Amino acid sequence: MNRLLLASVFALVAMYSGSAMAAADGAAIYKTKCVACHGAAGVGTPMGPAHAGNEFIKKSKPEEIASVIKNGREGAAKKYKQFAMAMPKQVLADDEVKALVEYMKSLNK
Ligand code: HEC
Repeated sequence: MNRLLLASVFALVAMYSGSAMAAADGAAIYKTKCVACHGAAGVGTPMGPAHAGNEFIKKSKPEEIASVIKNGREGAAKKYKQFAMAMPKQVLADDEVKALVEYMKSLNK
């Protein structure tokens, strides 16, 4: 009985730390939510600009990049007219946005 209890406590801890890690893993979030338009490792696609070798990502403050992710960029605000698509605003937790910004910065070193 004690063993069973101990085993379930371990299982819970493993589950909890697993999800906590995923929430802060920018590369993993990028893979699931961003690659469709921005390409694997941010190389770009016909639907969205590259994030690797990108001056905006390189030079902007983390808050400015976070703001594009959270608010999207469409209509008159659009910067790249060659993409028919707009940047759709993303519903993400603040720590996820932070992890994404760090990941995109790491693509521009
Ligand atoms: C449906 C396609 C699509 C998805 C999904 C998408 N984006 Fe975008 N994103 C775009 C397009 C198109 C633009 C260019 C908007 C413009 O013309 O200014 C853009 C622009 C951006 C920019 C500004 C780049 C620059 O050079 O100014 C950032 C930052 C960004 N996206 C981050 C993300 C992140 C992070 C995700 C995933 C959480 C994501 N995007 C998901 C289409 C997408």
